[in-house]
Amino acid sequence: MRSDVTRAHYDRLAGRYDENWAYSPEFIRWMTGAILDRLDPGPEDVVMDLGCGTGLYARGLSGRASVVVCADPSPAMLAQLPADERLIPLHADAEDLADGRITSPHAGYDAILLKEVLHHVADPPDVIAGLVRLLRPGGRILVVMLPTTIDYPLFEAALRLFRERQPDPDGIAAAMDHSGLRTELTYEEFPLAFTVEHYSRMVRDRYMSLLSSFDDTEIEAGISEIRRNYPGPELRFPDRFALVLGTKETA
Ligand SMILES: C[S@@+](CC[C@H](N)C(=O)[O-])C[C@H]1O[C@@H](n2cnc3c(N)ncnc32)[C@H](O)[C@@H]1O
Repeated sequence: MRSDVTRAHYDRLAGRYDENWAYSPEFIRWMTGAILDRLDPGPEDVVMDLGCGTGLYARGLSGRASVVVCADPSPAMLAQLPADERLIPLHADAEDLADGRITSPHAGYDAILLKEVLHHVADPPDVIAGLVRLLRPGGRILVVMLPTTIDYPLFEAALRLFRERQPDPDGIAAAMDHSGLRTELTYEEFPLAFTVEHYSRMVRDRYMSLLSSFDDTEIEAGISEIRRNYPGPELRFPDRFALVLGTKETA
């Protein structure tokens, strides 16, 4: 991981990550289905979940593939992976795997998932080009990411920072295209609902890494702004994702 701030964020969050990010079993089922539909792993397939976190989606992949290499630069996140012989933990970041500084335990992959990871990478096209070299013929890369604007009920300074930092899915699709993959960009959304109390706790926990850029005083001011803007007991908003699938030609 290139950024100490990012590492500190995920090491601190690891124990409570699933509480904040699993949202609900329905959300995990929905997202797992969207991933499996696109990556379509077969029983002989070797899969990598790169930036796997606690393995929320590696679990679904391991039910369909022969093995899932779960790579992440945060040891605390990797420590949350369920014990399962088909989930192989690997302490590595995307850059190290892409440029070959860390040799992956398998020579080639049939499917690579990067879900909500590329915003942590300084040069996504470079990483994508490197990962394409790890794909077997017919192999797939799926990038799941937020779009450039989101409808989250966050405070304005956080939304502004998000808009400044978030890579554009069109740019990721162009990078895959440029690396020789047949590329398809689609969007899907899931309706989320939280009480204002619950969402305030998530913001205080800095459930999104960008919230780590705000100190405690700024976070409390942000939560007051959220409560002013959304006085009702419940917050409802769509969680919209871009899914960029790239497929390598078979021959
Ligand atoms: C938002 S979490 C997503 C985790 C998991 N993919 C999921 O959707 O639940 C981002 C993950 O990316 C990892 N990460 C941060 N920088 C990375 C990098 N340069 N390469 C690979 N993973 C990275 C973090 O440690 C963290 O586990």
